[in-house]
Amino acid sequence: MPRFQIRLLKSVEEFRQCEEVQRHVWGMVGASREVLIATQKCEGAVIGTLIEGKVVAFIYAFLGRYHGQWIHWSHQMAVEAEYRDQGFGLRMKRVHRRVALQRGIKSICWTFDPLQSRNARLNIARLGAVPEEYIVDCYGRFPSVLERGLPSDRWIVNWKIATRRVEERLRGKTPVFDSTLPRVNDTRLTSQNFPENTNIRLGLGDRRLLVETPGQTEAMRAQALPLAERWRMETRHIFQHYLAKGYRAEEFFPPRPETEGRCFYLLRRGA
Ligand SMILES: CC(C)(COP(=O)(O)OP(=O)(O)OC[C@H]1O[C@@H](n2cnc3c(N)ncnc32)[C@H](O)[C@@H]1OP(=O)(O)O)[C@@H](O)C(=O)NCCC(=O)NCCS
Repeated sequence: MPRFQIRLLKSVEEFRQCEEVQRHVWGMVGASREVLIATQKCEGAVIGTLIEGKVVAFIYAFLGRYHGQWIHWSHQMAVEAEYRDQGFGLRMKRVHRRVALQRGIKSICWTFDPLQSRNARLNIARLGAVPEEYIVDCYGRFPSVLERGLPSDRWIVNWKIATRRVEERLRGKTPVFDSTLPRVNDTRLTSQNFPENTNIRLGLGDRRLLVETPGQTEAMRAQALPLAERWRMETRHIFQHYLAKGYRAEEFFPPRPETEGRCFYLLRRGA
């Protein structure tokens, strides 16, 4: 693990380096240094991970209101590819939480693609954020290298940073996977080794349901785009259908031996 520092960014050069990270991660700059500087001045938060004085990851969050509450809306988080899966995303979120709590902010919200399992793992399972809305094609067709090819459907997650759920998750508590729960979809592997749906059940009424989602959508987009599009439309239909029936997406289980290497959302109805 290299020596690193995570903190609110200060200098114009650091904000410029955030543009560079965006170029590497998305192939484009969505938040210019001017926007980042202005955000930092008016109680938003631009937090970076610095290694040998260089920004390799950052969060950009502005101050806003959601459901009548003052929140931080975390519009971007990016980690340079070579530093992913080393906990920098989680560490930056922890620093962001501390900064927000010091300023009296109790919620941090953001959007993410329900089919990006790494993000779901971090956001729901590790951080305890909860998806509150499913937005169809949230940003329109994205030209960025990560998003190209699919409608930009998104969860809006609310990370209620002062709650017990979040404190427990940050202490390392993880939900237990129950493989006996009813499944909304059955899947099989294609010849390219990607899962595809063979059966979708929309008439279930149990309090808890499992929805399987693919674990490698970036590879699927690159190698089997029509299948990735099918997943987008089928999961859109499943989530919208069950959300309208009073379910919420409460947990996410990443690929592990107990899930037989597959990914699942847990939907729950009622308290
Ligand atoms: C999303 C992102 C910011 C996460 O940063 P990160 O530093 O890699 O995150 P962390 O290392 O803290 O956590 C990643 C978790 O996902 C897990 N993971 C990795 N690949 C996975 C996969 N295919 N499916 C499920 N989980 C996966 C990791 O094991 C890790 O969990 P663990 O710590 O419990 O083992 C980073 O991947 C990124 O920059 N992605 C591209 C841009 C993006 O999507 N930004 C967010 C939306 S704006």
